[in-house]
Amino acid sequence: MTTLLRIDASAQLEDRSLTRMLTTLFISEFLAANPDANVITRDIGRAPVPAIDHRFIHAAFTPLDARDDWMAERLALSDRLIDEVEAADIIVLGAPMYNYGMPAALKGWIDHIARIGRTFSFDLARGDVPIQPILKGKKLVVLSSRGEFGFDAGEPRAHMNALDPAIAACAHYLGVDAAEIETIAIEYQEFKDARHDRSVIAAKEATRDLAVRFGQGTEQNFLEE
Ligand SMILES: Cc1cc2nc3c(=O)[nH]c(=O)nc-3n(C[C@H](O)[C@H](O)[C@H](O)COP(=O)(O)O)c2cc1C
Repeated sequence: MTTLLRIDASAQLEDRSLTRMLTTLFISEFLAANPDANVITRDIGRAPVPAIDHRFIHAAFTPLDARDDWMAERLALSDRLIDEVEAADIIVLGAPMYNYGMPAALKGWIDHIARIGRTFSFDLARGDVPIQPILKGKKLVVLSSRGEFGFDAGEPRAHMNALDPAIAACAHYLGVDAAEIETIAIEYQEFKDARHDRSVIAAKEATRDLAVRFGQGTEQNFLEE
C-alpha cells in the first residue's frame, strides 16, 4: 500500500490558501486513482512545531544510550515527525513563498527532521562530504504559490527564489533525490488579474495530472523497488 504524507505550511486556512487548495486536490485525485493509499496529515501551518533550542541540539547530539529522560522527552516530537516521513512513499508539501523563502513553519519542521542517527550520518572519514542521508527512495511533490512571478531559471526573479533551492538542498533528509522532486507553482497571486487566473488553472491541471500519474503508477513503481 502506498503512503502519502501531506504537509501544509501555509499560515492561511482552507478558505484563503492556494497551496492548501492544491494539496487537497492532489490527495483527492490520487485517492480516486489509488483508493487503497494511506494518507498521513501534518498541518504545520495551523500548528507550527516549536523552534529548536540549545536543549534540542544537546539532546540530538547525545548518543541514544547516553540520553537522560529529559533528552528523550525533548526529542519526542522530532521522533514522531521523522516516523511520519519514514512511513511515506510520497511527500506532498504545500509550500507558499514567504519573503522569498520558506515559511518559518516549514523551516521549523525541517529542523526537526534533520537528525543525526535518524535521517543522516556524519563521519569526517568521508572527507569533504561527511553527511550521508539515511532515508531513501521517496518522491516529493512541492505545491507552491507566489504573489509575484518569474522565479524559475532564466526568469527575472530567479535570483530571488530562496524557496525552491532550499527545499532541494534539504530533500536528502527526507529520503528524496533531487531528480524525484516535482514542483508546481501558482504565480501572480498579488496581482489578482487574468495572468493569475491562468496560472491557477494551469497549476490545478498539472496537479491533477501528476496525482493521476502517480496514483496509477505507484503500486507498480514500489513493487519494482
Ligand atoms: C507573510 C507573507 C510573505 C509573502 N512573501 C512573498 C514573497 O516574498 N514573494 C512573493 O512572490 N509572494 C509573497 N507572498 C505571497 C504568497 O506567496 C501568496 O499569497 C501565496 O498564495 C501564499 O500561499 P497560500 O495561498 O497557500 O497561503 C507572501 C505572503 C505572505 C502572507
